[in-house]
Amino acid sequence: MAEIRIRNTDERITGEQNVRQFLENQEVLYEHWNAEKLPSNLKDKFILSDEEKAEILSTFDEEIRDLASRRGYKTWDLIALSDATPNLDELLKKFESVHTHTEDEVRAITAGKGIFVIKGSEDVGYFDVELEAGDVISVPETIPHFFTLMENRQIVAVRLFIETEGWIAHPFEDPEFSKAK
Ligand SMILES: [Fe+2]
Repeated sequence: MAEIRIRNTDERITGEQNVRQFLENQEVLYEHWNAEKLPSNLKDKFILSDEEKAEILSTFDEEIRDLASRRGYKTWDLIALSDATPNLDELLKKFESVHTHTEDEVRAITAGKGIFVIKGSEDVGYFDVELEAGDVISVPETIPHFFTLMENRQIVAVRLFIETEGWIAHPFEDPEFSKAK
């Protein structure tokens, strides 16, 4: 289940109800899928063939289509990142800068862990959402954020898009960000 860390105060928010309530107040969509549905040979696998990717997508086909029909997503894919990914360090460096998009950014984690850093309301400031398998999150359009890996540097996630161009990152220069650690 996802956990929150508020960067300015180092306060942690845990427990499904509290996390849901906090994210709802920040207008961030949070849902949970049953990651146990994955066949055991795919549960902790981060180097995936095209066939395995298709199998993961079909395992969650009902959840994906339900989310897509409620929220207008038209396409989806699966990304897998791990130390086996070429240039992972370079990629992470690129990921870890605050930006915005013209459509919401949706990730459904099917294995591993990831973290969204999001600019919250004035009174909250930046907060981290630590995600694990089963967690589904959508960061609203125009909300500054970035997504990166956690210490284990392994993730598999479904991405859903309204239009692929909507996902282009627009850098968000924020002097407040570096202070909020
Ligand atoms: Fe983004």
